[in-house]
Amino acid sequence: MNEQKLAEEKLNKYHQEHILELMSKLKDTQKQEIIDQILKIDFDKISELYENTKKVKEIDQNQITPINYIDKEKIDKKEKKELQKLGEQLIKNDQYAVVTMAGGQGTRLGFSGPKGTYKLDIGAKGKYIFEILADNLKKSKKLYNMLPYWYIMTSSENNKQTIDFFEKHNYFEYNKEKVKFFKQASIPMLTKEGKLVLENNKIKTASDGNGGVFLALNKEKMIEDMKSNNIKLAYLCGVDNIMVNAIDPIFIGLMLKQNMQIASKSVHKAYPEEKVGVFCKRNGKPSIVEYIELSENMRNERNKNGELVYGEANTLSHLLSVEAIEKVANQNLKYHLAIKNDLYKFEKFYFDAFPYLDDMLVMRVKREEEFAPIKNKEGVDSPKTAIEIYEKYYKVEK
Ligand code: UD1
Repeated sequence: MNEQKLAEEKLNKYHQEHILELMSKLKDTQKQEIIDQILKIDFDKISELYENTKKVKEIDQNQITPINYIDKEKIDKKEKKELQKLGEQLIKNDQYAVVTMAGGQGTRLGFSGPKGTYKLDIGAKGKYIFEILADNLKKSKKLYNMLPYWYIMTSSENNKQTIDFFEKHNYFEYNKEKVKFFKQASIPMLTKEGKLVLENNKIKTASDGNGGVFLALNKEKMIEDMKSNNIKLAYLCGVDNIMVNAIDPIFIGLMLKQNMQIASKSVHKAYPEEKVGVFCKRNGKPSIVEYIELSENMRNERNKNGELVYGEANTLSHLLSVEAIEKVANQNLKYHLAIKNDLYKFEKFYFDAFPYLDDMLVMRVKREEEFAPIKNKEGVDSPKTAIEIYEKYYKVEK
């Protein structure tokens, strides 16, 4: 059977005939592109995801317990020195990588380009987010005479723009050989009636959430690349925290000393309603409860010292061994529902992979030193609040 027939059958079977009607008005080349898309879509999965949107899911709070953490501030000087040495050695041996997840759409920021290409009003000339991240990693060259490998996750929507941006800015003087882009997968968006949407003569898709990172690292042969370069640990982070501190030998040293597969950095929650995920254990395994899931009780529960029981906020900064990445890469992470511009978007969360790992080290760091996320156009977690933290810490003059 030819491709067109196959595509038609699929659309009919899954009640998406309206696409056929819309296609009939297009040129042959445009039609072919849509046919190619249709043949790749897993319609059973899409139907299942749509049916799931009608079910109300509640988390079982009994499965959730607090998790211990180590306060970086409270590690004594002697131990810090020992950890520093341990961590430094790994960096100097060129066995260290950073993975930046930059495949998101930045809808809340109201900026249409890749988030990393957003220019912040910092100092006299301003600075792009990617430039800030590159400068931060370049410190490694100065301090340890070694630049980490830098893997950057993009998506179909922003891959070309991201690479063009790096080319145009000469990779901000980063060693180009050590920067590798890889693309995460996409998944169709649906109307609330479960219908596919045609936009710009294509079936509208969106990136599959930052949980697509492990699968993408595997599929795009980045794990292979890490192994062939003898990389041992990778620091996984988002694109939008301009205070991210990925070159942190003490953190690396602590993970190595404790022989962990994963370590995460937390900051103490600023206030109970802050829109951050919090670290916890779920059925005894390391996990995160996302802010949308956290019940009011859990949000406000305090221990005898008056601290929030679920108060260690996820800063989206994690160290994983390459073996751990490989272990979780083939797990089928579940999709969560988001509604964007009135359409259903299905997203995986990267931390749904954590329960596949036995234990996790959580290290609390200082918010003013390592956490300035840019999420919203205005108000909390906006360019304005992030710039304030950045300029104060780095003592930037305007
Ligand atoms: C995220 C965390 C939250 C944490 C907060 C800290 C998740 C699901 N939640 O919330 O627990 O407290 O950051 O700032 O991660 N991304 C992709 N591809 C995608 C979607 C997102 O690469 O398909 C990247 C974004 O570019 C961004 C990061 O993932 O760097 C987080 O994005 P987002 O999904 O917006 O999560 P938040 O709500 O910010």
